[in-house]
Amino acid sequence: MAEVIIVKNEDEAGEIYARCVADLIKAKPDCVLGLATGSSPLAGYRHLAQLIKDEGIDVSGVRGFALDEYAGLDPNHPESYRSVITRTVVEPLGLNPDQVHVPNGNLDTIREAGHEYDEAIAAAGGVDLQILGIGTDGHIGFNEPGSSLASGTRIKTLTEQTRIDNARFFDGDIDQVPTHCITQGIGTIMKARHLVLMAFGDGKAEAVAETVEGGVSALCPASALQLHPHATVIVDEAAASRL
Ligand code: GLP
Repeated sequence: MAEVIIVKNEDEAGEIYARCVADLIKAKPDCVLGLATGSSPLAGYRHLAQLIKDEGIDVSGVRGFALDEYAGLDPNHPESYRSVITRTVVEPLGLNPDQVHVPNGNLDTIREAGHEYDEAIAAAGGVDLQILGIGTDGHIGFNEPGSSLASGTRIKTLTEQTRIDNARFFDGDIDQVPTHCITQGIGTIMKARHLVLMAFGDGKAEAVAETVEGGVSALCPASALQLHPHATVIVDEAAASRL
């Protein structure tokens, strides 16, 4: 059963995440952070950057693994998840870019890339704390409804709804949104020692209710969190309104 924390707003959620990660880095300077894109983690990254500065925390040993990446998109494209993670996490936190990994969406190597990514996470000792957002359909990473709960990192097709949701990052033009992605599997995500899922706004209320109180099912990939020994769900009142 996931622990649910209801907060006033994204800022308060971000403060909780930031405190938790800052303490983790102090206790384990070479810890492994699981990173996510999307708007939900942004306040957390912002507060963490501030704590690192205010408390003079040494982050030189911190390692990171992102959840997912578009397939076939130039990594230098401003909306590639490589670019987004660099802009929102690596630079503001001052992490060593060589120690922060994003799945490789290059189409020539994508079939082996998933397995190699899971091996790299395992070789790093596994993820200590994984931050997660959630899609309106209950997806985590890019594990859309129907994804195997035991899946590893692999290529997936994006649903029409997710491409519509993400068109805002591509001049509002769905044709520019890649059709495929490479994403950590639910099985990969479940190996992290602590999962912290954040969701805000009433658009996420249904997905949050399914995640926390629905049956565990591949139809709501985030419901796998119910099986995790240490999962924390941080939501505002709107996202908690169907609980
Ligand atoms: C994308 C990402 C997910 C993210 C989701 C929700 O699909 N692949 O990791 O959780 O968007 O994004 P947001 O937090 O902006 O609502």
